[in-house]
Amino acid sequence: MLTVAVLISGTGSNLRVLLEAARSTDFPARVVAVGADREAEGLAHAEEFAIPTFVVPYERFDTREQWGAELDEQLRVWQPDLVVLSGLMRLLPPDVVAAWAPRLINTHPAYLPEFPGAHGVRDALAAGASETGASVIVVDDGVDTGPILAQERVAVLPGDTEHTLHDRIKPVERRLLIDVIRRVATGELDLSFPRT
Ligand code: GRF
Repeated sequence: MLTVAVLISGTGSNLRVLLEAARSTDFPARVVAVGADREAEGLAHAEEFAIPTFVVPYERFDTREQWGAELDEQLRVWQPDLVVLSGLMRLLPPDVVAAWAPRLINTHPAYLPEFPGAHGVRDALAAGASETGASVIVVDDGVDTGPILAQERVAVLPGDTEHTLHDRIKPVERRLLIDVIRRVATGELDLSFPRT
């Protein structure tokens, strides 16, 4: 059974879908802990599913490196086989990436390498793109630049707002993420050698 720790910053709607999937007996992975860089709303989903949570408040630390060191300490308590960033709105320090990648993956609401960074949905709209997408990648030291594990196109519709487009992207992200986790758990996707 693959053990997974999930890190969030926001509403955790993608986390919730993962928790629901992991509840079914035929899913080969289980979430062992949910962490956040703030008192994120999404922690309530973990509590509802009786999953342990931890918060490492970013603003309590003088540097990103100190915050990352504490986050790493918390993750080591749970020793997850896989760490999933699902709406964590922080860049991990290189030491943390080095400690966990390539068993450290992230979901992003764009068709990488298009529109990386914190505002992928907004940037696709601003660029007038006719389509964008969702991607699951291995985290590296860049901003959404790691090896792509799964991605799928999502149309941009006339009249789309950032909200309506993001709401259309998230279900695709969730499906891709659950499929990637399933493939890692079954060994079909070997993360020990990230694809270049
Ligand atoms: C997701 O689209 C994720 O890819 C992005 O932020 C969103 C998080 O949404 N980084 P939620 O917190 O899971 O609702």
